[in-house]
Amino acid sequence: MNPVIDVLASSEVDCLERLWGQLLAHHSREAAHLTALGAVRSPEESWRLRRGQYLEWLQEPLAAILVARDGNHLLGYAVVRILDAPGAWQWGDQVGVLETLVVDQEARGAGVGQALVKAVRERLAGSGVQVMKISVIAGNDDALRFYRREGAVDFVKTLIMPVLG
Ligand SMILES: CC(C)(COP(=O)(O)OP(=O)(O)OC[C@H]1O[C@@H](n2cnc3c(N)ncnc32)[C@H](O)[C@@H]1OP(=O)(O)O)[C@@H](O)C(=O)NCCC(=O)NCCS
Repeated sequence: MNPVIDVLASSEVDCLERLWGQLLAHHSREAAHLTALGAVRSPEESWRLRRGQYLEWLQEPLAAILVARDGNHLLGYAVVRILDAPGAWQWGDQVGVLETLVVDQEARGAGVGQALVKAVRERLAGSGVQVMKISVIAGNDDALRFYRREGAVDFVKTLIMPVLG
């Protein structure tokens, strides 16, 4: 597949709801152990919250939503931000953060994710950013394999635990 990659205008953000729902369903399946801490939100509520975050992030000058399309059909999208992050390693004072990457379940395994990651990396490189952080939910081993093939290595291991009891 040879998708066209575009930057999405914030006024078009609602076209992402369907794929966000797929990602939520994927995460619910792959990380079922997390329901011990609390139930998964409904797709509608989850999208309402995520939509708000996307619109807020798009106020940042360097944030963007990249979409992959085949004609009028949305195949996938990536959300990327650039954040200040001076730290112990000399990889620059800013890092890219891949906030979302999802490909339509009907279009997976055909290079769409790879095309989106390539476009994100080119965009970050154009802003002088040297590294990109990605958070992958525990259990999403297919995505880990995908990112490792793109050159990602282990960074932080994030844990979550209940506060009471
Ligand atoms: C992970 C994802 C973005 C990769 O995009 P893609 O277009 O399918 O990826 P590509 O075709 O460029 O590469 C294929 C790789 O994607 C991964 N993959 C995940 N689910 C897949 C599926 N249902 N079919 C095929 N490949 C899949 C595999 O790592 C696959 O590599 P493999 O051949 O070693 O199994 C996409 O599969 C997806 O949206 N998965 C569900 C949501 C998700 O996990 N997002 C990442 C959250 S951090």
